[in-house]
Amino acid sequence: MKAVCIGSEGGLQHLQIKELPQPSPGPGEVLVRWHATSLNFHDYLVGIGAIPTPEGRVPMSDGAGEVVALGDGVDSWEVGSKVMSLFFPKWIDGNPTGAKTRGISGETVDGYLTEYSVLPAEALTRIPKGYSYAQAATLPCAGLTAWRALVVEGNIKMGDKVLIEGSGGMSIFALQFAKAAGATVYATSSSEAKADRLRDMGAVEVVDYKADERWGKTIYKAAGGGVDHVLDVGGGSTMSQSIEAAAMGGHIYAIGILGNGRKGTLTFPKLFFKHLRMTGLAVGSRVMQEDMIRAIEENGIVPVIDRSFGFAELADAFKYQASGAHFGKIVLEY
Ligand SMILES: NC(=O)c1ccc[n+]([C@@H]2O[C@H](COP(=O)([O-])OP(=O)(O)OC[C@H]3O[C@@H](n4cnc5c(N)ncnc54)[C@H](OP(=O)(O)O)[C@@H]3O)[C@@H](O)[C@H]2O)c1
Repeated sequence: MKAVCIGSEGGLQHLQIKELPQPSPGPGEVLVRWHATSLNFHDYLVGIGAIPTPEGRVPMSDGAGEVVALGDGVDSWEVGSKVMSLFFPKWIDGNPTGAKTRGISGETVDGYLTEYSVLPAEALTRIPKGYSYAQAATLPCAGLTAWRALVVEGNIKMGDKVLIEGSGGMSIFALQFAKAAGATVYATSSSEAKADRLRDMGAVEVVDYKADERWGKTIYKAAGGGVDHVLDVGGGSTMSQSIEAAAMGGHIYAIGILGNGRKGTLTFPKLFFKHLRMTGLAVGSRVMQEDMIRAIEENGIVPVIDRSFGFAELADAFKYQASGAHFGKIVLEY
């Protein structure tokens, strides 16, 4: 079987396609034939070597495919079941712990840009009814992160106001979940064409964060006193404006570090005089993923896929992602 592997040195030029022996499932395990993955910023950091991984690691944290063989004692799946991966294969339910979040697909354990892999039967969920493999592969990281922020941590209510930042994969899911919950969505984007698409999807106001340095203040005013939920994707590069955009008592989800935002400074009195909550979060559990799948089916939510690449085109797909030209998700199908 074929698998893409990270080389001994970091860098997209060192990604290799290898011929590996096909594994077979032991007790409690299943063999999955993967058919699609999707790109997340985390995968890009692994791909370029900014997150170091052992030589030979199979990248990509999202996978969708079908079960093709069952190990002894597995009764939760059948041969032919359509399944998708978990970002944290060991986080099934409850609060995150070190042990539950130690395995990260495509980083500390092998990911899904491989034709086959063997996994514990519990490290998978079904895919939403009617979804293609490519659509399902957009969900385990980007979809679940947006779901956990707004629904699990944020208890979003009809009439709430939500700010999404940029038009990447996680942010577009947040827009879709917020609209389905009856919330009003505000957005930022550096592209006028993408701003039009965000408005078409229901954003009431889109601010260009490059043209307007004080975009947080602009959103605060547009929302008539700030927004209740902010999904922050830039950390040090966006958090001070995310705080500006928030309403009194608002909730900010610290999710990403786009724009070189690994570190930054904050004006702390803004945090406490606005009585803000800030939740740092990394994806979610299998139970959260199952809840998200039900909600997606009930609300007819369909992922926005910008472009699809082939199995051997990961480096090209990463370059396209890094260009920032995409709107929503980029996938690979195989
Ligand atoms: N904590 C978690 O569990 C988790 C899960 C998923 C993602 N993330 C993080 O969330 C962030 C977004 O991930 P993604 O996979 O959705 O990325 P993505 O699809 O690559 O999104 C990139 C888009 O974000 C916007 N953007 C880029 N730099 C920006 C900046 N400085 N300020 C505001 N927006 C900016 C741009 O939108 P425009 O072109 O419209 O300007 C760009 O097209 C990443 O940092 C990622 O690591 C975290």
